[in-house]
Amino acid sequence: MTAITDTATDTAPPRPGDRWREGLRAAAVPEAVRGRSERTFSLEPDMFRWRPDQDAKQPPRPSRLRALEALPEGGTVLDVGVGGGASSFGLASRAGLIIGVDRLEGMLESFEASAPTAGVAVRAVLGTWPEAVDDVDDVDVVVCHHALYGAEEIEDFLVALTSRARHRVVVEVSSRGPTDALNPLWKAIHGEQRQDRVVADELEAVLAAMGLGATREDIVLPPTVREVTPQLVAFARRRLFVGEERDEEIAQLLRDLPPREHRIAALWWPGAAQAGGGPGRGDAVPV
Ligand SMILES: C[S@@+](CC[C@H](N)C(=O)[O-])C[C@H]1O[C@@H](n2cnc3c(N)ncnc32)[C@H](O)[C@@H]1O
Repeated sequence: MTAITDTATDTAPPRPGDRWREGLRAAAVPEAVRGRSERTFSLEPDMFRWRPDQDAKQPPRPSRLRALEALPEGGTVLDVGVGGGASSFGLASRAGLIIGVDRLEGMLESFEASAPTAGVAVRAVLGTWPEAVDDVDDVDVVVCHHALYGAEEIEDFLVALTSRARHRVVVEVSSRGPTDALNPLWKAIHGEQRQDRVVADELEAVLAAMGLGATREDIVLPPTVREVTPQLVAFARRRLFVGEERDEEIAQLLRDLPPREHRIAALWWPGAAQAGGGPGRGDAVPV
């Protein structure tokens, strides 16, 4: 008897969600490096503080415009991975309440501290997405900027975002991985050639496969001349898992980096929450 083989399955390209997971695993810090140093790092709240003066100098981002056009006057916003609020305080002129979810307490403290300056009521929710989906109620617009790069179960993350939005979900990501700019330093310090992730393209493919009807718009931000400060060196050092004895070398490598295009993508699609639901649970912080 002839064995029947499914050649279509054998040659089928990986599903977009699997490709995303593979990209994430390939970008993980190798055990040899992590184990050797036993160092670890967490995102630094001060780096993600909302800076209205810098915000005002930026070109209007598609992510903000698309969120504003879907937000009713006095409407509610859920910002997942809110950090210090740079992703949603630009919506403060129309928003009645911004609910910020973050897994780091220091980020939420920064978010709450900036709310009076932004002139909007906020509610901070400590939790990890998508598990925290049950800690928030439906809102008009859900935003999520630069907070899903590490999501292994990307479909679950996106489904949870969609389930809480009455009108629209707006995600912003970089075209490449968040620390890909440091790949030349990985080569110099660890001898490892790391590949850039193609985050925005992969995410777009995942959304298409999920049938969410997402639209994408890119913008290239003006190049920023980043001074090589001790803070920037420490930022790079923590992500390279080496000690302070390498700081001088890291500073020189950072100075030698060629300019990089900073392309970001906004992706937006309709929400799936029932219209007419109430605002987020809990108390708003009046300003
Ligand atoms: C790169 S910062 C961006 C902050 C802010 N959205 C912005 O655009 O300035 C990413 C934030 O998302 C948070 N974050 C990442 N993954 C998360 C998750 N699964 N659940 C909750 N917060 C998360 C981090 O703690 C961090 O504050």
